[in-house]
Amino acid sequence: MASITAAAAVLLLLTLSTSATASKVKFNVTEMLSEFPEFSTFNNLLSQTKLADEINQRQTITVLVVDNGAAGAITSLPADTQKKVLATQVILDYYDPVKLDGIKDKAAQLTTLFQASGGATGQSGFLNYKEGADDQMAFGSAEPGAPLASKLVKVVASRPYNISVMQISAPIAPPSIGKSGGGGGGKGGAHLPPPRRKMPQEPSPVAAEGPSNEEDSAASPPAESEKSTDATADAPTSAGSREVAAASVGLIGLIMWMII
Ligand SMILES: *[C@@H]1O[C@H](CO)[C@@H](O)[C@H](O)[C@H]1NC(C)=O
Ligand SMILES: *[C@@H]1O[C@H](CO)[C@@H](O)[C@H](O)[C@H]1NC(C)=O
Repeated sequence: MASITAAAAVLLLLTLSTSATASKVKFNVTEMLSEFPEFSTFNNLLSQTKLADEINQRQTITVLVVDNGAAGAITSLPADTQKKVLATQVILDYYDPVKLDGIKDKAAQLTTLFQASGGATGQSGFLNYKEGADDQMAFGSAEPGAPLASKLVKVVASRPYNISVMQISAPIAPPSIGKSGGGGGGKGGAHLPPPRRKMPQEPSPVAAEGPSNEEDSAASPPAESEKSTDATADAPTSAGSREVAAASVGLIGLIMWMII
């Protein structure tokens, strides 16, 4: 009898320690992106510029990534400009398609990591977001005259409501960065050429929410939830722990019943 009770206690302790570690696990954007070879160029750039470390230090962040084909427009820029352009793809809040869709008036100005770096001038540290009448979600630099040309392609990975990684069709570059990085001479020399490639996936954010992305499916927050809470932030991991907990409570109940 005593050994059975001890076994139950051990099981309970195991369960408790599992959920305790789960809530402490910090995300690592490099690791998250390493599962997707099509984003390896962007991932390498984040490491080279040390922006990956800055992203990992944040608690709520969104990274807009481009595939290897579109990332060529970034690698061809001077090194210091690369970092600015990359920091412009990082939004200082958690956004997934559900939360974007819930934005009032379907448009917003979003603050980027470039703004937080202190090096941004004017509106260059901000993004414009807009959802078109066709439900296409698009991003662009908030600088006057910049196009809203980077379309949301799909959700790549997410840990609600801490980090969201989404693919966009083309990198976002504030026009003023492109000019200053051009080395003074060439007018618009460093401007990002808009890649006009055919996307392999149907760029529908609704499809992006589909069952193919198991990490995101549990994620969909109710549209009104703007604020992250600890309870919801841990939802995907603690759901698993809860299942284990429920199972062990059931087991302990059974053991108790046998003892009595
Ligand atoms: C996730 O966000 C919540 C709320 O902002 C924060 O308390 C928690 O530490 C974050 N978790 C990670 C892994 O950053
Ligand atoms: C993140 O993951 C990468 C690749 O696995 C690793 O090299 C790096 O040290 C990790 N960073 C942190 C802060 O754990």
